[in-house]
Amino acid sequence: MVDSFMAKQGSSSSPTLVGDPSEAKITPIVVISCILAATGGLMFGYEIGISGGVTSMPGFLKTFYPDVYVSTQKLKTHNSNYCKYNNQKLQLFTSLLYLAALVSTFFASHSTKKLGRKMTMLIAGIFFIVGSVLNSAFTNFTTVITGRVLLGCGVGFANQVVPLFLSEIAPTRIRGGLNILFQLNVTLGILFANLVNYGAAKIKGGWGWRLSLGLAGIPALMLTLGSLIVVDTPNSLIQRGKLEEGKAVLRKIRGTQNIEAEYLEILEASNEAREIQHPFRNLLKCKNRPPLIIAIAMQIFQQFTGINAIMFYAPVLFATMGFGNNASLYASVITGAVNVLSTIVSIFVVDKLGRRMLLLEAGVQMLLSQLVVAIVLALKVKDHSNNLSFGLAILVVVMVCSFVSGFAWSWGPLGWLIPSETFPLETRSAGQSVTVCINMICCFLIGQVFLLMLCRLKYAIFLFFSAWVLVMTLFVLLLIPETKNVPIEEMTERVWKQHWFWKRFIDDCEGDKSNRKYANQPFHDSK
Ligand code: BGC
Repeated sequence: MVDSFMAKQGSSSSPTLVGDPSEAKITPIVVISCILAATGGLMFGYEIGISGGVTSMPGFLKTFYPDVYVSTQKLKTHNSNYCKYNNQKLQLFTSLLYLAALVSTFFASHSTKKLGRKMTMLIAGIFFIVGSVLNSAFTNFTTVITGRVLLGCGVGFANQVVPLFLSEIAPTRIRGGLNILFQLNVTLGILFANLVNYGAAKIKGGWGWRLSLGLAGIPALMLTLGSLIVVDTPNSLIQRGKLEEGKAVLRKIRGTQNIEAEYLEILEASNEAREIQHPFRNLLKCKNRPPLIIAIAMQIFQQFTGINAIMFYAPVLFATMGFGNNASLYASVITGAVNVLSTIVSIFVVDKLGRRMLLLEAGVQMLLSQLVVAIVLALKVKDHSNNLSFGLAILVVVMVCSFVSGFAWSWGPLGWLIPSETFPLETRSAGQSVTVCINMICCFLIGQVFLLMLCRLKYAIFLFFSAWVLVMTLFVLLLIPETKNVPIEEMTERVWKQHWFWKRFIDDCEGDKSNRKYANQPFHDSK
């Protein structure tokens, strides 16, 4: 069916998109649903931004980690620039959330498939609310850690469902831009958290940490209410057998009666999906390998740009470089703001310039920025002395901002966008779980070992990350296909089958019995 449609449309580069008739409008319901759903990212960002600041607040340390508090006081006399903040137990508070997220995302996969996208968002919202309450209202260590785990479950569910929801509900031609709303919310969450920490740290009486942890309730509430308002995606409704409802939603969100082509395409994809008993095992089938490998590689690469070294520990990093406490906080608010603004840039250009162009440009920009920071630190900030002049300190901040902005219009959003749009429907939620899981494992690792690495590698930590950036940029150059303007249910035909390297996986599948069986189903016959 799709083939006959393709034939009618002419070549695969035809501007008229199959399944996305040109009259598909950017309707208010799509825009509103996307804005509401994307608040799941706000929660994730808030958690990324908040814990670094909270774990350095004396009130928090005295309550939960009294021994750590005592040793940080002693460390004030410690004179190694690179090692003063390294503490594994404390870093576990930051990274535990990611452990919980990586486990829960597999439950989320089941829920996105069986209960739908909307319901899964509601579950994420509830996890967040309970987690924020436990985190801020009690002074008992077990409760706070339980709260952290629940927040992690919220992140696991939200990161599983939101990018997927956005990719499915958006019309093809603005899919990239709408999907990046998730990442925009992540960056807003981080910035909001930086500002909250800045204010909370100044509160006399030592209860500022409660405010920081408790304000997570705001984004939690937004996602919960949002999930009650949004419509479920037609893909999810159709996949769960609600054909008429799916069709009606498709008409409503596309703002046209002419949705037959897209409807049939989703129906076909969901027929295939229904055949699949074990989506995770199915991920390993040859035709699913290209998106799987790309999703895994993209998550590892996204985290090994070193972005979270900056997002989790920006104040600590700037303090390491010799900035005073206030200056460090300001500097981290500045990088937070650059992160938000650059993400907005990508919303507008991703569907025009394409994914590859952004990843390649940013690769060069991030590489150069990290090299400059490494060189300045190597020359000026030794283990026991710091000769960073004012001018060089500004240069370091500018280079960190340049690195963050490169990340924010490339690996930040595209690390989530590309995996969410390249898996076929039958393995989309399983694929997204693997994506979230790998991302969280890498977040956990960076959260847990970065300060130790800084202590051991010193300025060379930036060389370490820049080597990764070089490798990932070559990976993009050779192996990441362009997916801009390709309808989501046509990736196999129009992307993988056309790619110089990945097509061999699909070719191998031609001999795969389990795929041949689809060819005999009535739905595949050309009508
Ligand atoms: C990443 C996070 C990161 C954030 C920074 C996200 O895409 O997954 O780990 O902290 O971008 O904006």
